[in-house]
Amino acid sequence: MLALKSLQLLFVLYASAVSASRSREAVDRLRGTKHNIVEDTEPLQHAKRSASFFTPTFANPKAATFAVNSSALPLVTFPLQNSWAGRLPISATSGETRQLFFWYWPSSQPTASKTLTIWLNGGPGCSSLAGFLQENGPVSFQPGAKAPVSNPNAWTTASDVLWIEQPVGTGFTLGTPNIQNESQLATQFYGFLQQFFGVFTELTSKQLFITGESYAGFYIPYIASRIINASAAEKAALPLSLQGLLINDGVYSSDIVGEQAPTAGFAKSFQSTLGLSTSTVNSLASKSSSCGYDAMISQITYPPKGKINLPNGNKDTISRSCDVFDTYLDDAEDANACFNIYRITDKCPTPNDPIESYFSRSDVQKLLHVSGFGTWSECSNRNVFVNGLDNSAYSETLFPNLLANLPRGMTLWHGLIDSILFNIGDRLTIQNLTWGGLQGFQTAPSTPLIVGGTQAGIFHTERNLTYIEVNNAGHMIPEDQSAVALHVFQAILGQTTL
Ligand SMILES: *[C@@H]1O[C@H](CO)[C@@H](O)[C@H](O)[C@H]1NC(C)=O
Ligand SMILES: *[C@@H]1O[C@H](CO)[C@@H](O)[C@H](O)[C@H]1NC(C)=O
Ligand SMILES: *[C@@H]1O[C@H](CO)[C@@H](O)[C@H](O)[C@H]1NC(C)=O
Ligand SMILES: *[C@@H]1O[C@H](CO)[C@@H](O)[C@H](O)[C@H]1NC(C)=O
Ligand SMILES: *[C@@H]1O[C@H](CO)[C@@H](O)[C@H](O)[C@H]1NC(C)=O
Repeated sequence: MLALKSLQLLFVLYASAVSASRSREAVDRLRGTKHNIVEDTEPLQHAKRSASFFTPTFANPKAATFAVNSSALPLVTFPLQNSWAGRLPISATSGETRQLFFWYWPSSQPTASKTLTIWLNGGPGCSSLAGFLQENGPVSFQPGAKAPVSNPNAWTTASDVLWIEQPVGTGFTLGTPNIQNESQLATQFYGFLQQFFGVFTELTSKQLFITGESYAGFYIPYIASRIINASAAEKAALPLSLQGLLINDGVYSSDIVGEQAPTAGFAKSFQSTLGLSTSTVNSLASKSSSCGYDAMISQITYPPKGKINLPNGNKDTISRSCDVFDTYLDDAEDANACFNIYRITDKCPTPNDPIESYFSRSDVQKLLHVSGFGTWSECSNRNVFVNGLDNSAYSETLFPNLLANLPRGMTLWHGLIDSILFNIGDRLTIQNLTWGGLQGFQTAPSTPLIVGGTQAGIFHTERNLTYIEVNNAGHMIPEDQSAVALHVFQAILGQTTL
């Protein structure tokens, strides 16, 4: 049940962070952004004409009904390859009312790419279009910006990318949410994939990677297991070539692991960035010690000495007085009125976020084949799991089987200034996990991650599991460190090495 707590927290905090800027943003958007753009377009028209992109063709005539003239996206003044978007049902059942939304972009290279990458944001109930517009898509429209710009580090520069809004209840999806756990989520997702590849059949043979963030740390291992564990008949009908998984700042385990246990140490390390007083930091530290969290952290050794128990005889519940994480949030918000749990270096003022007004525009919705949807929300206002309960075993329990079966393994990565989930939680999860016949990493992560001649973090690989820590990145690594993120992505695809 503790998964529920972090589940709600990830969602609620995200939603409130988003809504804080909503009213101001509506005004700003109406004020003349278009005029600025008209002046800008002239020189860029040439680039538009000269850019050459590989354009895939699809034999199924239904594909044409999803075609998007990407260059017609409002406020966009730079060349873009064509894309395909719209909704497809989660099953072949006639009259299926539940439909997911997708936006498929071929690679921007002049030749066809060999890979297809799925990207999923978390929540649960937060849209993967946030990843598209503000993390790894070809169009970048950041908070505070008046118009989108081209993203030189788009993941489409390296692979075809498919952004999918799921589960039902998220973004432009249709139908009533009816799932209670991740197995059901994975079944609906697999049903959607059957429909998707039925239309875009030519994409089936590409090497498939599944990537995502945050609560997608729950989704992705279940979805990958569903693909790997598909029946022989399902595999014959849909021969997917799933290669590897890449998850940043993910939820895999108890929130005692991802949030509570690492909190006090994080507050101490980042005391000055957070603006916390020494007495606040000391008070968090003394709670952390008496609640048994420090004892857990001290067992992160390489190799580990044995299984690492949760406090109170391995109980996965905590008393209110041991909710160090919520105490820390109160302290951080007292110290910084614009505290951003996803990236602790943020200070006031919080810039307006254009994403909800952009995807709520009728012209955008028309282009994406979801005409007349009305107001689009970055994170769903309703429960995407029945009663908001995700009754699933922690996704870490699926890792051993996935690591034994994925040709390019799994990569977990974490931004070091994320404070809704801490990197030390990933280290705890890994050191407590047994896979490939051993527990945890045998050697501490320390290899420098060098990107463009600069150290961007560290990484380590053992037995098909890679773990990366990225400097100066919050929860949304591809937004904060887009060049580093593209490098990591290309390494996962096998186009370069870490
Ligand atoms: C696509 O949109 C651009 C920009 O609005 C326009 O110039 C072009 O004619 C459109 N292409 C097609 C095939 O409709
Ligand atoms: C998921 O929920 C369904 C419906 O309640 C149930 O039949 C199934 O056993 C559950 N799966 C898991 C893995 O808990
Ligand atoms: C997939 O199959 C493996 C091997 O039979 C099994 O261990 C694992 O639990 C299955 N995973 C799921 C999510 O059903
Ligand atoms: C470590 O794994 C064991 C199961 O192997 C589990 O009982 C325990 O709660 C886990 N500890 C943490 C910190 O997640
Ligand atoms: C790593 O992955 C390969 C390919 O999937 C597999 O053959 C091998 O057994 C895996 N190694 C471990 C330790 O699981």
